[in-house]
Amino acid sequence: MTTTFMTTDTDIVIFGGAGDLSFRKLVPALYMAHIHDKLPKPARIVGIGRQAWSREEYLAFIDQHSPAFIEKESFTAHDWQEFLQRLVYVSLDVTKASDYTRLKEACTPNGLQVFYLATAPSLFTQICANLSGAGLINAQSRVVLEKPLGVDLASARSINADVAKYFDEQQIYRIDHYLGKETVQNLMVLRFGNAIFEPLWRAPNIKSIQITVAESVGVGSRAGFYDGAGAMRDMIQNHLLQLLCIVAMEPPISLHADDVRDEKLKVLRSLRKMDLNDIKRDTVRGQYTAGASEGVAVKGYKEEDNVPATSRTETFVALRAHIDNARWANVPFFLRTGKRMQKRQSEIIIEFADQPFSIFGKTPNQQPNRLIISLQPEESIQLEMMVKEPGSGMHLHPVKLGLDLQQSSDKRRAEAYERLLMDVIKGRLTHFMRRDELEAAWTWVDPILAGWKELDEKPREYSAGSWGPAASSALMARENLMWFEET
Ligand code: BG6
Repeated sequence: MTTTFMTTDTDIVIFGGAGDLSFRKLVPALYMAHIHDKLPKPARIVGIGRQAWSREEYLAFIDQHSPAFIEKESFTAHDWQEFLQRLVYVSLDVTKASDYTRLKEACTPNGLQVFYLATAPSLFTQICANLSGAGLINAQSRVVLEKPLGVDLASARSINADVAKYFDEQQIYRIDHYLGKETVQNLMVLRFGNAIFEPLWRAPNIKSIQITVAESVGVGSRAGFYDGAGAMRDMIQNHLLQLLCIVAMEPPISLHADDVRDEKLKVLRSLRKMDLNDIKRDTVRGQYTAGASEGVAVKGYKEEDNVPATSRTETFVALRAHIDNARWANVPFFLRTGKRMQKRQSEIIIEFADQPFSIFGKTPNQQPNRLIISLQPEESIQLEMMVKEPGSGMHLHPVKLGLDLQQSSDKRRAEAYERLLMDVIKGRLTHFMRRDELEAAWTWVDPILAGWKELDEKPREYSAGSWGPAASSALMARENLMWFEET
């Protein structure tokens, strides 16, 4: 393997270096960047952990856990061994200031340090303070903050204020890996790189918008975190609201980070605040019970490891949101996410308005045009159009005009974490959240969480392997709409 460019010596310092995120996502992403010559040649990866390991023991841990998360076609023993040469390990108690001298010794003098905080957010402040105390922060250092950033607006504000004591906003990369997904970035190109959609992309031409991120997996081994968070904090506050922003924002004046983030911020600020009545009417919380996932019997949420039998944490949320601005007046946005749903399926459905008048009379198949943007597992864009059914009468039926994004280019499609990590190294902030953006998202979410607390209702049950509680379909049915898979 030859490396085609050199840059400043770079240390990617991962706090939580032996954690789940690290061995499942970050190390595999960095390996992919390494084999595709995207990682600067002198870049080293400094894993930080509490375990009193030697470098060899850390490497053995990574060697045991990470390869399973690397696609088979890209894995060779030779490349892997070469990649492992980049890894070093520093055993350190993140709360102990004196331990940071060991990190300082491990970092390249005058190098570019990227500090990736893949730990509980409650440790962020202390880590930043200790990095600063050890003289590890300079004008070119960068810090990456993993989600969830806080549990509500107050805690997010306080973390942001603390981190800002040590890093300028331009040095802070608040990561939401959905913004690194190829299809999500493609959504901007679909909207702003094609002349045909933009004039129609507004009220009254659009009847409704659905955003679904359905997962077939359950909570797995993450109950310790998840039971205190729930689907609202884990998914809606970040991933789904970011998708909503990209669908709904005005065209930014450029792709410069602040131009894009200014437009996303306006969307978040235009989200209509929900009062208790809205919350009762327009939100659904669910929790999965035992059922079958992809043909295999699975436990209910309350039976999962480390979940209290009395847990009221939601594993599903569906809600109706409104954006109060000129473009989106009266267009409902339906957001839905859940664990243990029938299948892994993330998609955005733009349902265009009904035709004002049909010359074909009442034909049962007549339906509005829909643009179906599938994010995962398949990446595709389909436009549902009405055509004539072959035969004598003028009967209509819908067909799909499809664009298979996987087939559209033979160029490699990097995974979200790889793309975002390379953005950090290159200093590109466009696909990261700015402080005010994150706080605006919490500003909208907080009253809903508070409303749920006040209502004090149990989440509605849904069987694992279904599409969520019946109330979720009812939310749509009230407006004569249906979730896409029900149509
Ligand atoms: C994470 C959530 O941010 O996103 C997880 O914490 C969730 O609960 C995951 O499973 C989903 O990501 P993806 O890329 O698999 O859709």
